[in-house]
Formats: sequence, structure tokens, C-alpha cells
Amino acid sequence: MALDEKTYGELREIAGRYPEARSGLLPMLHLVQSAEGRVTPEGIQACAEILEITPAEVSGVATFYTMYKRRPVGDYHVGVCTNTLCAVMGGDEIFSRLKEHLDVGNDETSEDGKITLEHIECNAACDYAPVVMVNWEFMDNQTPESAVALVDDLRAGKEVTSTRGPRLCTWREAERVLAGFPDGRVHEGPAAGAPSLVGLGIATERGWTAPEGSDAGRGTDLTGAPADVAAASDASQEAEAAAVEEEAPTATTAAEKKEAQ
Ligand code: FES
Repeated sequence: MALDEKTYGELREIAGRYPEARSGLLPMLHLVQSAEGRVTPEGIQACAEILEITPAEVSGVATFYTMYKRRPVGDYHVGVCTNTLCAVMGGDEIFSRLKEHLDVGNDETSEDGKITLEHIECNAACDYAPVVMVNWEFMDNQTPESAVALVDDLRAGKEVTSTRGPRLCTWREAERVLAGFPDGRVHEGPAAGAPSLVGLGIATERGWTAPEGSDAGRGTDLTGAPADVAAASDASQEAEAAAVEEEAPTATTAAEKKEAQ
């Protein structure tokens, strides 16, 4: 299927958002996926023409990142985290139960075209392990049973809401959002879940604050190093810099001597 004029126009619109047009390639590929259901040869050609780069360069990007699919994706992409923490908390079991329930292997789509199942790497949501993602929205603290109920609801066309985000849309609709065309659901769901805020709660309870006069880059010492240690480290770095500056003339002189020989 050839890309339509509307999609071509939107691809050009994305490219025009960046001082260097080729910086728009990632969202452009998401738009191709939204329109075509995968990264097609036509989509690659269109991106290459608009960005004035080669199709091989576009392919190089599309095949490097796992979020870009060369095979058609179902209505819902269901990713099960099987990295260490989620795996030991039940992720492996969830993945194997879903494979059996949907009768698919990894990165395959159920026969009704509704669900594409994939095992995915850590989504930085380990405090909610085991985590399942639907079209990159979080479904926290899953069990094999809840995951089966989740895919059944999606297949039945029921409205499902992320445990920490908006109502779920289809994969193609989500790809359009990733291309930079908002769907108006960004404010649905909580901004942060309770487990992510536990540290903040402890700091508030104990009156911990960032050191006075700190700026954004240095204010919060996440290493926990006391202020005098940090100051000593700064002083030592300054001393090293001064020593290098002192040595510089000698090195230049040596270079000049060599050149003169
Ligand atoms: S290990 Fe699963 S989200 Fe980190």
C-alpha cells in the first residue's frame, strides 16, 4: 500500500520541526508505522527522499531500534518484561502463559490479528514488577491470571486503562502519538505511582532538602557524599587543572624544539 498524500505532508511537517531535518527520522518512522502498520519499503523511501539521505541510511536506523517493526503488528503490542527483577517476580511465568494462551511465539501475532506478543527489556518500572506494557503504557504488578484477562479484554474490544496512565488506544494510534501528534490523553492517569514516591516521602518526613545555593546540576548529591568531601574533590580537581596549565608551556617548548630541529 502506497503512502497517501496526508502522510507525506505530515512526514514533511515532522522534518520541518528540526534545525537539521534528518533529526526527525525517528518520529517519521513512527508515523510510517502508524500509517502502514510497520516500516515498509515505501515508508523508507519516503523518509529518504524527504530527508535527502539514502534508503540504506534509513534502513540502518529502522533495523537498529527494536521499536521499529518490519513485520505487521497486531492491534495491540503486548510487551512482557523478562529482565532480571520482573523475571524473578513472575515475568517469565507471565510470558510463558501468554504464549500458550495466544498460541504464539515471541514477536508473533495472534491469529485474529489483535495481539502481538514480545518479551521486552527493563522499562525502568522495576518498583512495579512484574510489568507488562501495552503499546508502551504500563500495566503494573501483573500476574499470569491478570495478564490473560488483560489480553482477553483487549481482544474483546473492552476499554482498558493503564494502571499508571491513560485509556489504551491501538498500536497504530500510539505510534501517531510517538510521531508527535498528541491524542489529548496525556493528562489521564496519575503523574507518578506511590512506590516511585516513597523516597520523596521519607525525605519530606525527615526534612531532607538540597544543599543551600545548589544549582540543578550539583544541588542534589545522589551519591550521598557529604558536602566537605564534595568540596575537597572540587579543590583537588582545580589543583590538577592548575598543574596541567603549568606543565603546558614546557610541552609547547618541547614541541617547538622538535619542530625547529
Ligand atoms: S526489570 Fe522489569 S521494569 Fe525493570
